[in-house]
Order: sequence, then C-alpha cells, then structure tokens
Amino acid sequence: MIRTPLITVMVQAVRKAGRALARDFGEVENLQVSTKGPANFVTAADRKAEDLLFAELSRVRPGFSFLMEERGRVEGTDISNEWVVDPLDGTTNFLHGIPLFAISLALVRNGVPYAGVIFNPATEELYVAEKGQGAFLNDRRIRVAARRTLSDAVVCCGLPHLGRGDHARFNRELAAVQTKVAGLRRTGSAALDLAWVAAGRFDAFWERDLCAWDMAAGMIIVREAGGLVCALDGSDKVLEKGEILAGNEDMRRDLLAALGGA
Ligand code: IPD
Ligand code: CA
Ligand code: CA
Ligand code: CA
Repeated sequence: MIRTPLITVMVQAVRKAGRALARDFGEVENLQVSTKGPANFVTAADRKAEDLLFAELSRVRPGFSFLMEERGRVEGTDISNEWVVDPLDGTTNFLHGIPLFAISLALVRNGVPYAGVIFNPATEELYVAEKGQGAFLNDRRIRVAARRTLSDAVVCCGLPHLGRGDHARFNRELAAVQTKVAGLRRTGSAALDLAWVAAGRFDAFWERDLCAWDMAAGMIIVREAGGLVCALDGSDKVLEKGEILAGNEDMRRDLLAALGGA
C-alpha cells in the first residue's frame, strides 16, 4: 500500500464518506430519491457523502479547487490542484441493493490525473494509485491483465439507456465487438469498471458519455497498473471528450479497430 501524505489524506476522507454510504445502503425508503433527468437519480446518500468529502478535503488541503458531481465546480486559491469527486458512482445499483458502487476521488494536477482512490464500501475494496508509485487493491499491488487477443478477453462496457447516449451507434459497436470477445460485462459503475481493469479482472473497458468524476481516479489507477487509457479516437483527450477505452496495448489496438469499423 502507498503511504504518502497525499494518499493518506485521500484514503481518510474516502473511508469517512464510505462509512456514511454503508449505513445508507439498504435504506432506500429514507433516501429522498429525486431525478436530475430521465433515469438519472440522486439521493440524500450522494449528497451526504459529497458533503463529507468536501469538508474533509477542504480541511486537510485548504485552497485546492473542486469539481464534484452534485455541487459542481468550486474554485479555490490553487487552481492547478483540483479534487475531482464522484461521491457515489453507481447510484442506480445503490438504489437497487446491488453492491456495485464506489466513491471515486482523484487529484487532478494541471489537468492530468495525479492520484486516485476508488472505494467500494460494500466489499471493502480500496483501490489507490499515485503517479510513479504503482497501483494497489487494499495491500496488494495490482497489474492489468496480460491477455493478448480479444478472443480470450472479458470486456466491460457502459450501456446507453433511457434518456442517455446514442443507442444506434452503441448497437453497431456492440455488434462489432460481441462476435470477437470471450465475454462482455456491464457493472453500472464506471469507476469500478476501471478499477477492475487495473486489477486484471476485466481485460478492457470502453464507455462514452462519461464525466471527469467517473473517470479521473480510474485513469491514474489503470496507468499505474501498467495499462493504457485513451479516448475512442485513440487520443489522450479522455476528459475533454468524456469517453474512455482502458486495457493493455493489444486490447487498445484491437478494440479501437473493432469500434472504429462499427
Ligand atoms: C454512472 C455510472 C454508470 C455509467 C453512467 C454514470 P452515477 O454514474 O458510472 O456506470 O454508465 O454513465 O453516469 O451517476 O451513478 O454516479
Ligand atoms: Ca449521478
Ligand atoms: Ca458517476
Ligand atoms: Ca455519482
């Protein structure tokens, strides 16, 4: 496990918010569920976890800026250091009692993810990475899978649904990929999808229409686990374009080719 001062404060904040989420999990009737759009839910648990992260991180690193899913952007005196926060990634799973959700916290330095923590309080799995220090799941060093061909690969993707995404394009992409891979998966938490690529569980992951808070922590965790992360045109513009492909070099090449031909 990495024990730098930065990772220590990030883990402390995330564990605190994680305890609140764990208490709220399964208490749907008390969670004041509302929608931000079709099938786009937000609950008191999302807000409470975000409030805890905001208070704790403002205390330990005064002046750093924030980009948060629920509150939006809060500029500090230091705009080169930005906390990018998804207090509850996988709200729909959380509401359905599915234990696949996570807090995703990144420190983005001058626009580039520098450190990341992803924590699933339901399974107690904590993924951390800091630039140059490697990636860890709890106390164990993790690496992306080494499989070389799509025909051996389990690939994860995000699915468009009611009110979200380009369904026709996704159906073409799915048709192009599903005949080439050993298995396809969908979890409902983009942060966990990236953490599971870093841990070598999924060989690759792709999704469109994501936000910085879904991806920033996972990007540095995948990179520190020896993986590659790019946008779906192969460029580095992941955060700008809101789309991501993650995996090893071979997965990146072959999946980009399959998606590009769709
Ligand atoms: C969602 C999850 C999901 C992805 C959606 C995201 P939220 O985040 O990451 O896996 O497919 O695009 O919006 O809203 O549960 O934090
Ligand atoms: Ca949300
Ligand atoms: Ca999210
Ligand atoms: Ca969220």
